[in-house]
Amino acid sequence: MKRYHIITFGCQMNEHDSENIAGMLESMGYVLADDPFKAEVVVLNTCSVREHADKRFYGMLGQFKKRRDENKDTRIVCVCGCMPQQPRVQDEIKKSFSWVDVVFGTQTIGDFPRLLNDRISTGKKQFSITANNSIVPDEKESKRLHKHKALVNITYGCNNFCTYCIVPYTRGREKSRSLEDVVCEVKKLVADGAIEVMLLGQNVNSFIDDKGNTFPTLVRAINDIEGLERIRFMTSNPKDLSDELIECYRTCEKLCKHIHLPVQSGSSSVLKRMNRRYDREKYIDIINKLKSACPDIAITTDIIVGFPGETEAEFEDTLSLVEYVKYDSAFTFIYSPREGTPAAGFSDQIPYDIKHERFERLNEVVNKYSLEKNERLSDKTVKVLIDGSSRKDDKSYSGRTDGFKLVNVSSGRDITGQLVDVRITECKTFSIDGVLA
Ligand code: 5AD
Ligand code: SF4
Repeated sequence: MKRYHIITFGCQMNEHDSENIAGMLESMGYVLADDPFKAEVVVLNTCSVREHADKRFYGMLGQFKKRRDENKDTRIVCVCGCMPQQPRVQDEIKKSFSWVDVVFGTQTIGDFPRLLNDRISTGKKQFSITANNSIVPDEKESKRLHKHKALVNITYGCNNFCTYCIVPYTRGREKSRSLEDVVCEVKKLVADGAIEVMLLGQNVNSFIDDKGNTFPTLVRAINDIEGLERIRFMTSNPKDLSDELIECYRTCEKLCKHIHLPVQSGSSSVLKRMNRRYDREKYIDIINKLKSACPDIAITTDIIVGFPGETEAEFEDTLSLVEYVKYDSAFTFIYSPREGTPAAGFSDQIPYDIKHERFERLNEVVNKYSLEKNERLSDKTVKVLIDGSSRKDDKSYSGRTDGFKLVNVSSGRDITGQLVDVRITECKTFSIDGVLA
């Protein structure tokens, strides 16, 4: 029993947790199986941010149960991540999915090797979820998805309690790692070949360590690390975005000219009901400051439509904000009630067809600006950090510009992990094509 496969749902936080879980499995002697059904140990790392992710998870669990019952390769099925953090899901797993072998949470990842070994040696199911929110997880050696770029946790959990969001209930209270710890990890990653780091947290702007170091101080410290080329971070909450951080776009040459700044709604009254603790004016003020500090900064966002009580006029405020900011791209979501969050209990839920119609109208405006922004790169030569080649065509590579734009380029030689000059030949809404310059 020596092959493993991890299926990851959700955000970069989860992706990085999966890298850590992979690292643990490999140090236990397991090897990666490309096919999930050809692995004896399968880990489903779950997300609960919207209902869609729930449904996909339950569907997949059913498939693995079938394989396991048929005595195919699948032997041990493990479930972790955000879903089992919720008491409702814990009950459901215990009642309807009691066959799952190992269940652990977002704060008990470090226990996984012991739980797996105990499952194998005793034959008993293992269940380890803790509600102890004070633990800062111990970062072990992770098996990175990419050699040239690395995900680095700087904070865990969230204290914001936006009324639509499940995350504070699944990832616990906010904790920051120490600046020294993070800098030390980035130096190690650079020595190991990483040239780009993505600093991760639910709200990186509220990073503050035991010594009082804040996020801009951390960014400047990482900017000084020799050999590193690019710094990104995610996610930034507008309510805590400081002028000092905006200044970093002028002073830190490694900081990518991109910010992901979720707005959620362009209406101050909706933002209030969402408990976002900023309003439209404050958000626009930040955007103006960012654009003046860094005129060609790429700005991306997350937007929810159909939040309870959203009127047509409030929705139009979102459309007009998109017109004002002219986002490079946006993740748009239909509001999905999450049990246990305040908004799920709001009485004025919006009917699905209205939510859907607004979603389509929003996407039309968002896509218009995505194309317009991409077209600005036409015929220009830009630096692209190549992530790898496509599965179907090994001559077709893709990577990201400084502004996080996805660029496809073909090459006869392997350019994975290299920062290459690409001349842009064709701009579409969701991607850009180019040739090696
Ligand atoms: N319904 C719809 N979208 C949601 N998001 C978070 N919670 C919900 C929800 N209940 C979106 C937000 C967040 C992104 C990660 O997911 O836009 O920024
Ligand atoms: Fe999903 Fe949120 Fe958990 Fe990330 S933190 S996996 S987005 S629920």
